[in-house]
Amino acid sequence: MSANNVSTFDVFTEKNKNEFYVVDLRSDTISRPTLKMRQAMAQAIVGDDVYGEDPTVNELEKISAEIFQKEAALFVPSGTMANLLSVMVHCSRRGTEAIVGDLSHAFLYEQGGASHIAGVHIRTIKNEKNGTFSLEEFKQKIRSYDQHEPITALVIVENTHNMCGGKVIPLEWIEELSKICKENQIIMHMDGARIFNAIEALKVTPDKIAKHFSSLCFCLSKGLSAPVGSILVGSESFIKEARRLRKALGGGMRQVGILAAAGLVALKEIVPQLSEHHRRTYKLAKAIDNLKSSNIQVDLATVQTNILLIHITNKRILASDLAKRLVEVSNKEKTAGVCDDNGRGIIVKVSSRDWEFARAVIYHDISDTDIDLSIKKFNYVIQEFDELFPR
Ligand SMILES: Cc1ncc(COP(=O)(O)O)c(C=O)c1O
Repeated sequence: MSANNVSTFDVFTEKNKNEFYVVDLRSDTISRPTLKMRQAMAQAIVGDDVYGEDPTVNELEKISAEIFQKEAALFVPSGTMANLLSVMVHCSRRGTEAIVGDLSHAFLYEQGGASHIAGVHIRTIKNEKNGTFSLEEFKQKIRSYDQHEPITALVIVENTHNMCGGKVIPLEWIEELSKICKENQIIMHMDGARIFNAIEALKVTPDKIAKHFSSLCFCLSKGLSAPVGSILVGSESFIKEARRLRKALGGGMRQVGILAAAGLVALKEIVPQLSEHHRRTYKLAKAIDNLKSSNIQVDLATVQTNILLIHITNKRILASDLAKRLVEVSNKEKTAGVCDDNGRGIIVKVSSRDWEFARAVIYHDISDTDIDLSIKKFNYVIQEFDELFPR
């Protein structure tokens, strides 16, 4: 379906971008470094990090290990590399397997690197809506050292869970999983790309989550607004091995204190602001919920952090139809007052891919004004869909 026949549309292009007010909610990876980060980057004291001689990287690694009460940490270029390194180290024995959620980033969006680079067998387990999986099913999936089967060595837990809509993994569930893993000698890794959002939502100290995991990674470049980088934390021996393998993957960087400097600022400046990101996400969710649309809905009770899933409940509408309409500005909507104080039409960018929902993500650059204008746009567009598809 396309709502194109409603009236004439203007569409955002590079040429006419100043004519619109654009709110980009596709992902928190869009976040840009703050002024403080840029200043810190310019002034960073640096050295060759492959030699272990970059003081700023060393400081970031030390602080990160302390935050999660682990022995050591490693700065890596991306979350994908952090997850891959953890698989490579924990599953170094040939013929091992890692269990991962079927909606996890490590399974869906990392090119199957665990298999094609690390040579590790990946076995999926169905993710529940809250980002967990059935512990009964998990127990059944653990192999019994049968000579026909791979050896179950690792489980990866994503927290917060991206594709489940920024869901915070409950601590009690982690504790139960940890018991099962101990009994069966299975190592636990946490893909904590957005772990600080989970920590903020749970109001716990980071170690309360990390203590159950042999390794954990988090991203500086998503909700924390730094330009590049992720951190892997774990034991001395784990990090030593990961550091070695990072070099093999081409992740040995040199005067990278320039980037680590932004990471240090991110931890100090942005982490305390995450509750605001969550508040703004909830505000947008509530406004959409208030519309009581028969076609486009949110599950308000499950909005926990900075990711909002906007469900399309009518099979005749695709999430991409909603995403496409949100980046169009009709003459009719401008006449109806859907514009900013300067009379510019509002464009809201969301992600949709092939999903049954559109995803909106809130981060540091998204202000209260951005949220208010996004609400105006969503209100108009959702009502337009409801008129086109009465139910
Ligand atoms: C949960 C999760 N893990 C890992 C990654 C990978 O991070 P990167 O893009 O830095 O490789 C992402 C990226 O969006 C993610 O959402």
